[in-house]
Amino acid sequence: MPARILNGNEIRDQIKAEVAAELQQFQECGVRPGLAVILVGNNPASEIYTRNKVKSCESLGIHSERLILPETATTEELLSCVAELNGREEIDGILVQLPLPPQVDSKRVLLAVDPQKDVDGFHPVNLGNLVTQRPGLIPCTPAGILEILKRSGIPIEGQRAVVIGRSDIVGKPVALLLMHHNATVTVCHSRTRDLPRVCREADILVAALGKPGMVTGEFVKPGATVIDVGISPLTSRADVERFFPGDAKRMEEFERKGSTLLGDVDPSSVYPVAGAITPVPGGVGPLTIAMLMVNTVRAARLRRAQRPVAVAR
Ligand code: GUN
Repeated sequence: MPARILNGNEIRDQIKAEVAAELQQFQECGVRPGLAVILVGNNPASEIYTRNKVKSCESLGIHSERLILPETATTEELLSCVAELNGREEIDGILVQLPLPPQVDSKRVLLAVDPQKDVDGFHPVNLGNLVTQRPGLIPCTPAGILEILKRSGIPIEGQRAVVIGRSDIVGKPVALLLMHHNATVTVCHSRTRDLPRVCREADILVAALGKPGMVTGEFVKPGATVIDVGISPLTSRADVERFFPGDAKRMEEFERKGSTLLGDVDPSSVYPVAGAITPVPGGVGPLTIAMLMVNTVRAARLRRAQRPVAVAR
């Protein structure tokens, strides 16, 4: 049987509808949650991501601002931008788009974000809250992966989960979330011995290694659920032919746009083996933005619950 496609766009739409209903309640109290997105320099991918984040806010009626700093911005300039946003009552969420230019001390900047406004969930306070299962803001991509699994009826409790990748942003937090949902979790990385053998033990395999097409059919137990977090543009015809053999739609997209997207999973060898899989595009990606909207509304609720006076716009 061909793998079941876990459609991230449908789940995003469900979640956005839920956020819209919650925003209605805010509106009745005269409150409009607000998100500030900081973009530094002109990384083309970051420009697209931040524009999509702001667009998603606009579609829901969340106030949003995109602050653009030059490629030459210093750590001090970013710190003062973050400090200003920390102090603004009408801003509930602050997101510093990564990666930052090399001259900027990224860890210092992320540490400066008020944990109550840290809608990325990257601040050590929020990561600590996640580790210890306290309420807080959870990183968006890991939270989105859990939503895909839960809303698709994929069992987690008692399952073997293998996460490939140990980043602070995806690998570590998704491993914690799966553990908190009672999966038995293994985290693999570049030094893991016999990676395909370890991955074949997984009922749920999360590929977050950032290496396009590296996870092949030999990594996958027949019937397993595969979550593909990777997203890389293929810009050569030879690569498109290699990863999407005989796929006329992909080739047509490549001809039209000059690129097509590939995840960390090799589709032609994994789709015949997996039981369920998130496609690229249209799998995990849409959930990252949806969960940012969830976190912004959650940040607004948590912070304002501490300060009962609502701020009208
Ligand atoms: N760069 C790539 N993904 C992300 C993300 O989820 N948040 C931020 N801030 N930067 C990113």
